[in-house]
Amino acid sequence: MLNRRKLLALGGMAGGGAMLALAGQTSAPTASQAHAHMQGPPGTAPQPPVKPFSVRMPIPQELRPTHSTTLLDSYEVAMQPAHVEIIPGMRTPMLTYGGGFVGPTIRARAGRRTLVRFRNELPHAANVHLHGGHVSPENDGYPTDLVQPGTGRIYDYPNNQDGATLWYHDHTHHMEAEHVYRGLHGFYLLEGDDERGLGLPTGRYDVPIMLSDAHFGMDGSLVWNPEGGWFDRTNLLANGKVQPYFPVAARKYRFRLLNAATHRHFKLDIGGETMIQIAGDGGLLPAPVHRTDLMLTPGERAEVVIDFSKHKPGEQVVLWDAIGAVVRFDVVERAPDDSRVPDRLRTLATLPAATVTRDVALSTDLVNVKSLINGQLFDPNRVDFRIRHGDSEIWRITNKDNNSPMEQVEHNFHIHLVQFRVLDRNGNPPALGEEGLKDTVVVGPGDTVRVQATFRGYRGRYVHHCHILEHSQFGMMGQFEVV
Ligand code: C2O
Ligand code: CU
Ligand code: CU
Repeated sequence: MLNRRKLLALGGMAGGGAMLALAGQTSAPTASQAHAHMQGPPGTAPQPPVKPFSVRMPIPQELRPTHSTTLLDSYEVAMQPAHVEIIPGMRTPMLTYGGGFVGPTIRARAGRRTLVRFRNELPHAANVHLHGGHVSPENDGYPTDLVQPGTGRIYDYPNNQDGATLWYHDHTHHMEAEHVYRGLHGFYLLEGDDERGLGLPTGRYDVPIMLSDAHFGMDGSLVWNPEGGWFDRTNLLANGKVQPYFPVAARKYRFRLLNAATHRHFKLDIGGETMIQIAGDGGLLPAPVHRTDLMLTPGERAEVVIDFSKHKPGEQVVLWDAIGAVVRFDVVERAPDDSRVPDRLRTLATLPAATVTRDVALSTDLVNVKSLINGQLFDPNRVDFRIRHGDSEIWRITNKDNNSPMEQVEHNFHIHLVQFRVLDRNGNPPALGEEGLKDTVVVGPGDTVRVQATFRGYRGRYVHHCHILEHSQFGMMGQFEVV
């Protein structure tokens, strides 16, 4: 029999209300529905109360190199279990890079190499993927290429790419969703030469914010249930704290927003005020985009400039998601501001002519709880696309999960190795903010998105997948080989 909890596990509905509405559609509940009811309606599991805006949002610590030469910086990071205070007064067991949550920020510069030695002090295998990075296959964190417990491994990041807000996270086959949920992620801020001289806010006015969510048990531990459990992940986290506050000066700030949640999309606004989006996944946009809201699906990044100068000290600006506040910016002081957002941010290279067009169909087998690409589950022994080195290709990505309201599932799509350009969305121009380089793109139910990427620099096998990590873990992943 179709297990409704599992079926809903694959659904893309953003809140518990959708599930309740669904459960109400059938007059005679099935056994599994009745069971689900015995467990209480989703989204309402008892959780320790957290008072909003009671802790300050930390800025993840920057990692200090253990060694630097004129050409490179090297670092050491231990993957280790740790108890972290997320809820004041409670200790949450986490999986961490470096003992904290979120992981330490690695700062890199375009053209300057970064070596990171990761030691695995966890009781199980794990690995590291630099999301958005242009790296060789051996250093990409292939799902079956793992660092065994008690061993270490050097990852080599050449940083031969444009400046961008990247992040590193675990990619262990079938475990990526849980490992990332439990804390294995951190920022990797790659600074490009191109952005120096633009006058954007820098230093303490350039703040990375990692967005995620969590479901806590009454003892403060994280509850993990990949089959529909995200309905209960109703705590919104910014840099690892639940609904923190962050003191700001009445001037412009650059915020680097990253959705590190495994399943939730964030629909962000600051109460109708304007945010100026200056960058997407792969770095600066050609021109700033003024907007009042912004959606980020898992894995996506957006950088926005928010100008607090129209607020007086004492005023507050809340960054909202559809289900609640994410972080409250408390304007505490005036400050001089010589930063600016120029009308042009960068020039994107013209796209070469594409030689190949491929179809990528995302679909869900609700009955058997499988997430598929072109009808197939991920198989590390099967190469799905062979790509000639140097070729520029168009991938036409379609979300087939649109047959009935119940079958609507939101997906997104992420390609390793490359930054792509969105050509069009259902035949229309790319959505607001999609004009730059991207590595992850939302594909809503029934949507078709065409992207173009040029595959060069490395030969070998890489994966592509839905970045709703519960889906990639259920099979919605494929691989390509550059030959
Ligand atoms: Cu964010 Cu395959 O990765
Ligand atoms: Cu990636
Ligand atoms: Cu998906």
